[in-house]
Amino acid sequence: MAGLFDPMKIGNVTIRNRIGMSPMCQYRAEGDGVPHDWHRTHYRSRALGGTGLILTEMTDVEPRGRINEGCLGLWNRAQSDAFRRVADEVHAEGAAFGIQIAHAGRKSTLDDPVAPSAVPFAEGRATPRALTVDEIQGLVEAFARSAELAVDAGVDVIELHGAHGYLIHQFLSPISNLRDDEYADPARFAIDVVRAVKARIPSQLPLMLRISMQEYQPGGYGPTHLLPILPKLVEAGVDLFDVSTGGNGPARPEAYPGYHLRHATTVRDTSEVPVATVGQMNSPALADFAVRESMTDLVLIGKALLRTPYWAHEAALALGRDHELPGEYAKGV
Ligand SMILES: Cc1cc2nc3c(=O)[nH]c(=O)nc-3n(C[C@H](O)[C@H](O)[C@H](O)COP(=O)(O)O)c2cc1C
Repeated sequence: MAGLFDPMKIGNVTIRNRIGMSPMCQYRAEGDGVPHDWHRTHYRSRALGGTGLILTEMTDVEPRGRINEGCLGLWNRAQSDAFRRVADEVHAEGAAFGIQIAHAGRKSTLDDPVAPSAVPFAEGRATPRALTVDEIQGLVEAFARSAELAVDAGVDVIELHGAHGYLIHQFLSPISNLRDDEYADPARFAIDVVRAVKARIPSQLPLMLRISMQEYQPGGYGPTHLLPILPKLVEAGVDLFDVSTGGNGPARPEAYPGYHLRHATTVRDTSEVPVATVGQMNSPALADFAVRESMTDLVLIGKALLRTPYWAHEAALALGRDHELPGEYAKGV
């Protein structure tokens, strides 16, 4: 039975253990969406710390898809070239590398946000403009182009951000999608994006999709809404679901260690693809248990990796796997 420190093979990539860095916005780009020194050091240090898979923060497919001007972007060659340097740094420390590509939709705080429908994220936030069908198709192409640029940058995996109230999630949700055309179908935009991306990346390059299984807002959806959509997304090309919740409105989940494990297990038991999950999986024993009990295939660590880049090394020590440490650091045991 695989544990936290067993490798995982997905598509043509082998991840050295079951520990991933969850995407976390740094807001350190300088208006041009280009990653620089901060990002190279930040991601390399987590790779050096033993993390198996580094997923970048949300990286947007067009300028108006950013939350703010500090967000990373991936819509031009200069950005892709700079991401190549981040990928090289991460690979130098033995970790796999993925970019989370996204569009903020109505959660953008920049001028003139767009969304499936003219419904604001919360009271006091800007009312977005509803996208036309032509614009939606343009955004599908923007996701595909961004994925191509990610491949040029040397990624091992790509994650689409379909959770936390960003654009793909906005289409999936009855709170934010009040359309009456073909995109009224909550699955349609996500399926179009997955298909378009899959057609433009190598067939063995794994495509992950982050999903919110539960909305905590009044009128929001729960698992019974999303579960029937998941097989269609697998058919379209999703290779792994990254299971999270919330974000499509101000209401927040009650968070406690492993608070998404129930949803992850449901998705894993009902899907043909592996899953990752996230949410206070900070105890190495809990993370190892969740993998061994087949609740999840991959454990993503968020805030704990902001506090310590060496979370995976600490977990190796706690689980008696100190041989996982690089020689230089094994001397510290
Ligand atoms: C500072 C910060 C930035 C975040 N940015 C993103 C993001 O860009 N994309 C995303 O999917 N989740 C983002 N998240 C959510 C985390 O990836 C993770 O799902 C969440 O923090 C729960 O995991 P944890 O309890 O291990 O921190 C962010 C969280 C934090 C704390």
